[in-house]
Amino acid sequence: MSSKTSDQPNKRLLKTLRGEILDRPPIWLMRQAGRYLPEYRETRKRAGSFLDLCYSPDFATEVTLQPIERFDLDASILFADILLIPDALGQDVVFREGEGPVLRPVTSSEELAALSLDQIDTHLAPVMETVRRLSKALPSHVTLIGFAGSPWTVATYMVNGRGSPDQRAARIWAHRDPAGFQILMDMVTTATIQYLRNQIDAGAEVIQLFDSWAAHLPDPEFERWSIAPTARIVTALKESHPNVPVIGFPRGAGASALSYVAKTGITAVGIDTGVPAIWARDELQSKVPIQGNLDPFALVAGGDALRNETERLLQTYGNGAYVFNLGHGIVPETPPENVANLVDHVTSWRR
Ligand code: CP3
Repeated sequence: MSSKTSDQPNKRLLKTLRGEILDRPPIWLMRQAGRYLPEYRETRKRAGSFLDLCYSPDFATEVTLQPIERFDLDASILFADILLIPDALGQDVVFREGEGPVLRPVTSSEELAALSLDQIDTHLAPVMETVRRLSKALPSHVTLIGFAGSPWTVATYMVNGRGSPDQRAARIWAHRDPAGFQILMDMVTTATIQYLRNQIDAGAEVIQLFDSWAAHLPDPEFERWSIAPTARIVTALKESHPNVPVIGFPRGAGASALSYVAKTGITAVGIDTGVPAIWARDELQSKVPIQGNLDPFALVAGGDALRNETERLLQTYGNGAYVFNLGHGIVPETPPENVANLVDHVTSWRR
């Protein structure tokens, strides 16, 4: 079953992801709901813990809508987190203030036996309620994006127990015992497919897969742990929901983005701040719609720095299928008025 609103003719994001080139690109921003907004911080306080916020349809709907009420954005991304999957598999996740996510690490194929796919649907049911409410509440021109982490990125947290600059625990396990690590990856991939199908059935119109830690992998590892599970997810979603576009975001993949685009079947590719714009236009945008590339720190700086960078990206990508976005999420110190200026710039630009 495909989502009911997908055929809405006035949704810029859906048109762009189909390859249409519009008078101006659609815009949304990764982490558009978050700590840079005072109203988010206020709701977050009322909700209690970060996970309480994610699992409460009332609070999660409220914070998802906050940036839509403030800015003229073309898409809304479900408020949740990529680490709800390990939580639903039975690996307890906590978010500590100032420290980020902490999990009890899974370090061997034996420890995987404690995890189970049985609770995916029930554990994540509140998220589906949030998606259903958003699907009703959003203005008709705003596209609802559902998401999950890519299995590799989720696994790096499961294995290391927290974020790490080089993902060493997962990389060492994957080299040392690929067959054991594959069991973990298959489990996360299966859970992710089920979770995303549920999101689409509840009303998500586009899916984004965050492979935030796709950097540093040598070729064969990138193929096996980033491309292959992503391809499996895309194939499964295309089977069940052929009209729902999937944006893949292999952050830090560099030139490997080429094989990622060629082999995963994703509809569009997200590019981080380090990707050279001319290369992205010639090598990637010639094949699929692209998204992103604006430096989140230009958004913190604002003023001429932000105006010039925004204009450079619009000039480079604006004649092709382009979704305006950052190269990574909004950081907490971002002044909301800079976001307002950015959205004005992009929505009043014409190619
Ligand atoms: O607005 C949106 O983009 C939707 C919501 C969203 C969140 N996390 C909310 C969040 C999305 C799409 C994510 C994805 C996510 N979560 C990723 C992939 C994107 C990326 O940033 O690379 C990753 C790696 C995570 C895991 C995660 N969640 C970390 C490492 C942290 C701590 C770091 C930090 O920024 O605090 C989180 C917490 C988190 N997820 C917050 C938000 C708004 C901040 C928590 C708070 O309010 O205290």
